[in-house]
Amino acid sequence: MTEPGDRHWERFPKTRYAGSKRKLLPLLANVLRKLEFDTALDPFCGTGSVAYLLKCLGAEVTASDALESNVVAARALIQNSTETLGDEIEALVSGLPTSDGPIGIVERVFDEIFFERHENRFVDQILPRIDKLHGARRDLAMYSLFQACLAKRPYNLFHRANLAMRTRDVARSFGNKVTWDTPFNVHMKRYATAADAAVFDSGRACRAVCSSALDMDPTGCDLVYIDPPYVSSKGAGVDYLDYYHFLEGLCDPENWEERVLMKYKHRPLQGRGQNPWCDPAGIIGAFEETIKRFCGSILLISYRSDGIPGIDEIAGFLKHAGKHVEIVDAGEYVYALSRNRRSREIVLVGR
Ligand SMILES: C[S@@+](CC[C@H](N)C(=O)[O-])C[C@H]1O[C@@H](n2cnc3c(N)ncnc32)[C@H](O)[C@@H]1O
Repeated sequence: MTEPGDRHWERFPKTRYAGSKRKLLPLLANVLRKLEFDTALDPFCGTGSVAYLLKCLGAEVTASDALESNVVAARALIQNSTETLGDEIEALVSGLPTSDGPIGIVERVFDEIFFERHENRFVDQILPRIDKLHGARRDLAMYSLFQACLAKRPYNLFHRANLAMRTRDVARSFGNKVTWDTPFNVHMKRYATAADAAVFDSGRACRAVCSSALDMDPTGCDLVYIDPPYVSSKGAGVDYLDYYHFLEGLCDPENWEERVLMKYKHRPLQGRGQNPWCDPAGIIGAFEETIKRFCGSILLISYRSDGIPGIDEIAGFLKHAGKHVEIVDAGEYVYALSRNRRSREIVLVGR
């Protein structure tokens, strides 16, 4: 396959998204370069960092995720090969927020929850402006807004109503108050520039789809990269809908309010806690089913060494599906399971 240039994937914008494999891309590039594939599916694409790497390696890539906000980002950075926002971002953010106009959903429902009042107003007022854009330029603007929202949040998450953590006048041992307090317009311009720099044409048609992984068509994919949510050995899972519900709301502001669970302080969306991938009782079956579904392809699986299921159990599912299994640990191939139980990133390759 042709590549646009060595380490082109470094142009993928830096991110603090939970579970992002951006930092693992050098390792994954080494693993992927040894495999033969022309088409690839990333059905838990998250930020899209690995789908972007696959695009850089010349594959025809499909990136999909259960969260719409991730799919908007994947459309902007992977499906899109030509459009950029350029100077348009200046006009988009200029003069906001204004003190006139109706109170929007963010100001009404999320008062003193995630952002300050004038910041909520900014978010409400930029949405109709972004809506006037079309196609990939709209996706790039939404992506910049998502990243600005994340940058301004303690832990870069929306899982707690903890604005006070940011605004309280106390000495802090973590986080970056300067980043939290940097205005939305400054963040958005910065992220729009980073996103523009990542856009490129690989000469292959890539696409982004919003779907549950198990609803994706398994046919026609030479390689499938599986990077699901992680459940720790203590049974603690990651509910991405609960972490990033605010970004999901931004994707569909018209129907946001009726989907909000007002009984929780952080105002999450209906559907939280219902994903088998965040539940120790559901994740083993979900793994088994996913491997069975995509077993016609080369499978690459990212997981942590101390999770549920264990690496040996996942390897067992792959072998049961007729795969020869290699386990990649911290950059080197090992052919037996390590007894070291400290949490490490592991990649299983099933061919
Ligand atoms: C560990 S993250 C993937 C990180 C990604 N590889 C990256 O580099 O950013 C897991 C992703 O799975 C998604 N997800 C959770 N349940 C899903 C499901 N049933 N189907 C598809 N995606 C799902 C989450 O929204 C999250 O983006």
